[in-house]
Amino acid sequence: MGRVAASPTRLSRLLKQRPRRLRRSAAIRALVRETRLAPEQLVMPLFVIEGHDREQPIPSLPGHSRLSADRALARARELAKLGMGGVILFGIPDAKDDEGRAAADPRGPVATALRAMREAGLPLVLAADVCLCEYTTHGHCGVVVDGEIDNDSTLPLLAEAAVCYAEAGADLVGPSGMMDGQVAAIREGLDEAGHQATGIVAYASKAASAFYGPFREAAGSAPAFGDRRGYQMDFANGREALREMELDAAEGADMLMVKPALTSLDLLARARARFDLPLAAYHVSGEVAMLEAAAAKGWIDRRAAALETLIAIERAGADILITYLAADAARWLQEA
Ligand code: PBG
Repeated sequence: MGRVAASPTRLSRLLKQRPRRLRRSAAIRALVRETRLAPEQLVMPLFVIEGHDREQPIPSLPGHSRLSADRALARARELAKLGMGGVILFGIPDAKDDEGRAAADPRGPVATALRAMREAGLPLVLAADVCLCEYTTHGHCGVVVDGEIDNDSTLPLLAEAAVCYAEAGADLVGPSGMMDGQVAAIREGLDEAGHQATGIVAYASKAASAFYGPFREAAGSAPAFGDRRGYQMDFANGREALREMELDAAEGADMLMVKPALTSLDLLARARARFDLPLAAYHVSGEVAMLEAAAAKGWIDRRAAALETLIAIERAGADILITYLAADAARWLQEA
């Protein structure tokens, strides 16, 4: 101990900057905290099925279930009490066909749940995912023509589904199929049907990812042949992701989304610097599943790891976080 050469006074002179001064107490750390998460930024995905009073737990997403519209409404009421920003609905129909026609069924699960939530006047933003994969027999996000996912014949079907959800009360529709021109097609469809006020949150940069596994189990939407790399983006491409966002902004997107979140933190940061539109990140099912599995084994602290993850996504540039952890996070933030 006595052998330390430099005297404290000399060191003091050398060390003009001491970042630790701002870390000495919880109060000072809170004072200088740069990123704060609020429940209003959180959006919860909900899987809606047909029927009444039905609930089917999703094993790979602990704490989540497929819910009939009435149960989804009850869940939305609880989420509203937590001060959450909104919900995004995914529908799982009983019957599928080659063209995913049930996506635009006004009596389908999503439209039914939207109407119930709208009537209940919940203080939540109501968003609906717009894609065919949950509704097609083959599980692809578009119509299949000669073994390929056909872009242009898919567009009117997406627009029809978006109009159906807008009519049922959606504030926002979120096209997630990565078809070229889907934002423009949906905007035109909405405007023609008199839904100028319905917004589009574009899944602008969505990668073909290994982290959608639990979602596909929940939605029964795994592709029956091939994979989604012919339409979802190559996760290795950053410049292309920004180009996708540029196109969606030009086509009239009101918000941009990046997905998955954790493998795209750089894209969030770049998008934040380049676009002034609100930016959303989808913290996807597989990302949450990893956290849940490690927490269940006692390998990480669930709450601490979850909040650290969500704050990191926000710090990277996201204003809005779509996450299966939304309810827990909102509760923790209310407690804190
Ligand atoms: C539908 C869609 C998917 C997700 C959101 N919308 C699945 C997919 O693209 O295969 C994934 C969300 C998640 O994993 O939580 N196209």
